[in-house]
Amino acid sequence: MLSIQNLFKRFGNLIAINEFSLTVNKGETVVLMGPSGCGKSTTIRTINRLVEPDRGSILLNEHDIMALDIDSLNQVRKRIGFVFQHFNLIGRLTTLENVMLGMVMGGMQREIARDKAIGALTKVGLETHLEHKPGELSGGQQQRVGIARALAYEPELMLWDEPTASLDPILVREVLVVMEELARDRASSMIVVTHELPFALRVADRIVLMDKGQVVEEGKPSQVFVNPISEIGRKYKELIEYQMNTSAQSLAGN
Ligand SMILES: Nc1ncnc2c1ncn2[C@@H]1O[C@H](COP(=O)(O)OP(=O)(O)OP(=O)(O)O)[C@@H](O)[C@H]1O
Ligand SMILES: [Mg+2]
Repeated sequence: MLSIQNLFKRFGNLIAINEFSLTVNKGETVVLMGPSGCGKSTTIRTINRLVEPDRGSILLNEHDIMALDIDSLNQVRKRIGFVFQHFNLIGRLTTLENVMLGMVMGGMQREIARDKAIGALTKVGLETHLEHKPGELSGGQQQRVGIARALAYEPELMLWDEPTASLDPILVREVLVVMEELARDRASSMIVVTHELPFALRVADRIVLMDKGQVVEEGKPSQVFVNPISEIGRKYKELIEYQMNTSAQSLAGN
């Protein structure tokens, strides 16, 4: 479905992506983790060429992404949903209008765009908030509008870059629940950059650990977090054990 081979990206002297290769199957959810600055955001932004890689190959189904001219690239970008940390909703538009906007600007008939937007907003549980403006929504609800905006295109591939990172911890859960439902639905393949370990453990078909622009380990969560082979993998394993132990101790102590 998606095949990335030997991706390479340099910013001046800094090598941000170093011969990165990854294959994602149809309907699969891959969680991409690694230390800050290891190249996760840069990597997922190269997939639709928001960041231009220096070299490498990116095949999405029949499309050779690196070979596309700008018009064809814009067509393929519609098949790829992107959810960022900051939701960038337009404050003067309603929930429904925010989700419809891109489709209408892209030439879709208003009625069709409206149906697709309502369908997507229903999937994220916001069908009762169609007329709210972003300022009248919580952060979690705003991010769910952001998710609906990507979902409305029925993307083949969803890319998530720390979608819960700017949310109040209480609101993180509602977004993770929506993400988990979408992953279980398997309508799109997903690459999720997140530091949410419980989500990764529960939802990922595969964990990919990155360090210094490279894949250092990949496998099922039960493999990567139980018998890691990389230094980064061992650090995540220690972190999970620490979190489990401290939670158990606090509960026992109170
Ligand atoms: N436009 C840019 N110009 C110069 N350097 C950049 C640019 N974008 C990213 N970098 C550098 O490339 C490296 C990888 O950055 P990237 O944002 O991909 O990391 P990340 O793994 O997403 O980190 P985080 O977990 O903090 O989001 C970093 O050293 C970053 O400073
Ligand atoms: Mg990042």
